[in-house]
Amino acid sequence: VQPLTAIQSEYSLMWKNPEKGVLPLCQELGIGFVPYSPLGRGYLTDLLNEQTKFVAGKDNRADLPRFTAEAMKANRPLIDALYAFGNPRGLTPAQVALAWLLAQKPWIVPIPGTTKLHRLEENLGGASVSLSADELRQLTDASAAIQIQDERYPESAQRMIDR
Ligand SMILES: NC(=O)c1ccc[n+]([C@@H]2O[C@H](COP(=O)([O-])OP(=O)(O)OC[C@H]3O[C@@H](n4cnc5c(N)ncnc54)[C@H](OP(=O)(O)O)[C@@H]3O)[C@@H](O)[C@H]2O)c1
Repeated sequence: VQPLTAIQSEYSLMWKNPEKGVLPLCQELGIGFVPYSPLGRGYLTDLLNEQTKFVAGKDNRADLPRFTAEAMKANRPLIDALYAFGNPRGLTPAQVALAWLLAQKPWIVPIPGTTKLHRLEENLGGASVSLSADELRQLTDASAAIQIQDERYPESAQRMIDR
């Protein structure tokens, strides 16, 4: 038996499925959890909207159902909720999204991606935010009230994941 140190899987305010089984198991077995795409592949930063065009073959979001113009428009209330929470606290949407993940458990450590130094600095700011239990609940409830559109992956890929 090889002990598992950490699992990397998608987890964010847009994709909370690990809460249904993987995270409780990590807690039970003492396994770390590394959320990939913690900024919803950029969506949670308010960088993207229904006008955004992705270059097929160069940016895989061109093939992801969650990044169609319709889905990005439909998911806008989540960005509004991040601003509603972050503005009075001087936090950007990206910082709120990362602070929410970091507030879950000490063994949950997100890996946001960026190619820009100023965004790296902004995102690191999310690590020094500490949310109270009330604030965490407020943010969790606000995001849970929004039904995220659409699937994470195209149907063909989803079938392989679900298998
Ligand atoms: N294991 C897997 O299957 C898997 C799958 C996906 C990703 N990952 C890993 O997870 C990590 C991050 O995932 P990700 O890059 O897909 O998604 P992410 O961290 O959720 O989002 C990254 C996107 O957000 C933008 N961004 C980052 N910070 C921003 C800010 N403060 N303001 C505005 N835009 C911002 C980046 O653009 P710029 O670069 O232009 O800033 C980039 O387009 C990477 O290390 C990746 O390799 C692993």
